[in-house]
Amino acid sequence: AAAKKDGFASFMEKEINDQPDAVAQTLLGRNDGNGNLTLDELRVDPEVLKTINKIIVLACGTSAYAGQVAKYAIEHWCRIPTEVELSHEFRYRDPIVDEKTLIVSISQSGETMDTLMAVRYAREQGAKTVSICNTNGSTIPRESDAVLYTHAGPEIAVASTKAFLAQITATYLLGLYLAQLRGNLFQGQIKDILAELAKTPAKIATVIANAGQIKDLAHSMAETRTVLFLGRHVGYPVAMEGALKLKELAYIHAEGFAAGELKHGPIALIEEGQAVIVVVPSPRGRDSLHAKVVSNIQEVRARGAKTIVIAEEGDESVREFAEHVFYIPETSTLLAPLLATVPLQIFALELATAKGYDVDQPRNLAKSVTVE
Ligand code: G6P
Repeated sequence: AAAKKDGFASFMEKEINDQPDAVAQTLLGRNDGNGNLTLDELRVDPEVLKTINKIIVLACGTSAYAGQVAKYAIEHWCRIPTEVELSHEFRYRDPIVDEKTLIVSISQSGETMDTLMAVRYAREQGAKTVSICNTNGSTIPRESDAVLYTHAGPEIAVASTKAFLAQITATYLLGLYLAQLRGNLFQGQIKDILAELAKTPAKIATVIANAGQIKDLAHSMAETRTVLFLGRHVGYPVAMEGALKLKELAYIHAEGFAAGELKHGPIALIEEGQAVIVVVPSPRGRDSLHAKVVSNIQEVRARGAKTIVIAEEGDESVREFAEHVFYIPETSTLLAPLLATVPLQIFALELATAKGYDVDQPRNLAKSVTVE
C-alpha cells in the first residue's frame, strides 16, 4: 500500500495532489479546441436533450455539493431550471418527474444505494437519466441512459477530494454541451470557458504548492472545537464541503452557511475567538457579491471572530479584516470552486493529522454506502 501512496503519508494527501491531473483527465478529449463539445459517450438523443424542461441532480455527501455548484453554472449557461436533491430525500416526497426531466446523478463509486434507488425511481417515471461517475462499469451508470465518466482515477481515502473536483468539471462539460445543443451560448463563449477550464489544472497545482501557510494554521488550531464556514453563490457549497471535510476527518463541529444568511441567525453564534473561514468571490465578478461578503467578514470580525479568508490573488480589500488570508489564482466566478475547495481540503487533512487521526479511514464512515 505504501507504494501506491507515491510517497505521501496518506491516500488523501496523494489524492489532493492528484487533483490537477484529475481535472485535466476529465477534460481530455472532450472538446475539439474550437468550442465544440465532443461528448460521444453521452448517448442520449440530442433531440430529447433539446426538449427537457427541468434538471434534477441527485447525489449524496460530497457529490451532492458538486451538484450544488453545478446548479449555478447550468442555470446560468443553459437557462434550464435545475434542482439539486439528496437522493434519499427525493423519492419520498412525490417529486414531479416526467419525460421532459433530465436526471443527473453524481456518484464517485456508482454504488451508493440511496442514489441508485432514486435513479431507478426517476426512470420508472419516464425521466432521462445521465450518470456522472468515477467508477467504470459500476451499477448506477449501468442503470442509467447515459454516463459521463469523471477520470479522477481510483479514490481510496474515504473522504472525497479529487472526485469532487472532477465531478464539478464533468457537470460543467455537460452544462456547456446542453448550452451548445440548445443554442444558449455562442460557440465563442463556450470556447472561452473551455480555454479557462483548461488552465485550471495548473492553477490547482499552484494552490497545492503554496499550501504551507494553511498547513501551519491547521496545526495551530488542533484544539479548536467548532469552525464556521461562510460562502456565497458557488462559494456556498464550497463552504459546506469545507465544513464536511472537517467533520469527517477531524471530528470537529463545523457548519457551512450562506454568507447572506448570517444576519438571519448564525451571527448569534459568533463570540470571541470563534474561527470563521470565509470563501470570498472574485472582486472582478458580477453583482457586487464581493463587497457583500467582505462586509460579512467585517461583521463577524467586529464580534470577535478569528477570520480566515480564501480570496483571489491581488484582492487587498480583505486584508484589514482577516487574521489569515490565503490567496488562490484569478479565475472566473463559476470556476473558482475548483480552486477555493483545495485549501479547505488541506486544512481538514492537516488538522486531523495534527490530532493524530487516521485520515484515510475516519471513524464510522464507509467509502461507499451500499445500504439505504
Ligand atoms: C459516502 C462517502 C462520501 C461520499 C458519499 C457519496 O458517504 O463517505 O465521501 O461523498 O458516500 O458517495 P458517492 O460514491 O455516491 O459519490
